Amino acid sequence: MSEQKPVLVSGIKPTGELHIGNYFGAMRQFVELTNGGKYRPFIFVADYHALNTMQDAEEMRRRTRELVMTYLAIGLDPKDVVLFKQSDVSAHTELCWIFDTITTMPYLQRAHAFKDAEAKNKEISVGTFNYPMLMAADILLYDADVVPVGADQKQHIEIARDTAEKFNRTFKTDVFKLPEPHIMPEVAVVPGTDGKKMSKSSGNVIPLFGSRDEIAKAVMSIVTDSSGDRPENVYQIHRLFRSDVNLNALYDEHRGNYKALKETLIEDLDRYLAPMRAKYEELKENPDIVEEVLESGKREARAVSETKMEQVRKAIGVA
Ligand code: ADP
Ligand code: TRP
Repeated sequence: MSEQKPVLVSGIKPTGELHIGNYFGAMRQFVELTNGGKYRPFIFVADYHALNTMQDAEEMRRRTRELVMTYLAIGLDPKDVVLFKQSDVSAHTELCWIFDTITTMPYLQRAHAFKDAEAKNKEISVGTFNYPMLMAADILLYDADVVPVGADQKQHIEIARDTAEKFNRTFKTDVFKLPEPHIMPEVAVVPGTDGKKMSKSSGNVIPLFGSRDEIAKAVMSIVTDSSGDRPENVYQIHRLFRSDVNLNALYDEHRGNYKALKETLIEDLDRYLAPMRAKYEELKENPDIVEEVLESGKREARAVSETKMEQVRKAIGVA
């Protein structure tokens, strides 16, 4: 792998059953962007971010494995992609602390995720408040050029950019590179079965590795609104698989027949997801593969991040 290639960094928290919103909003880009060999990709399991909400050791272990299997099943190739666990590379939390010392409370209080939690009157952990600093460390440690994420993560990338600038200014250095978000606008938000953003916390998901029956059940539960010409919630999910021209013909043909439209959507979903589901099932039978992938990812991620940390420690005067 050439050192000259632009670096791509992204991660996902191992906090739940993955749904097609995660896939079309974020993960598919990982595959498309990393398959061409254009980037040097680092993709990880954000287990320390997940620890804010998931405090059960068994669940952490299981979901971490599931996420690695998902990365492999959707087509990330560990020969080209450094796949690792955030907690395996202690530089992430070390750099997070350094960023804490140059970041103010009022700045972090402006983050959407914090404001949402506050508006809901939730009791917020220090880790949740500090979430954007750990994420800035994840990104900046590897000199990321692009960070593919869903639209809801855009502010976090901006915070990482601000933090890189602030560090460079404070310590009169150019240690950190400013990353760019990469958001696919046409599928920026995948709607769920209730028409609102698909999210595991809203119970409106279509599972990524669900059986055909599970897919069918989710699709049949899509809320159909008869006020317009077509069932908008079905249509918006269907757009992930067919062009508008194709869909317009289909929806005209079956005008008013929501059952037929949903059945076509089930077919389209199942055809698209079946090969990934098969790969996932195969990985479940071969647990060693996940261990090997994480072991080699750890080695490579540690080597790269340690070089960056040496520059950081020098810049701040602890080395
Ligand atoms: P959830 O909202 O289900 O809790 P996460 O917050 O863990 O999902 O998101 C993981 C990744 O998937 C993020 O990059 C996020 O932007 C993306 N994502 C999640 N839900 C959607 C959606 N409905 N549409 C587009 N992208 C999504
Ligand atoms: N916050 C991201 C999410 O909820 C996950 C994440 C953690 C991430 N660290 C990252 C994404 C670094 C991109 C880069 O989806």
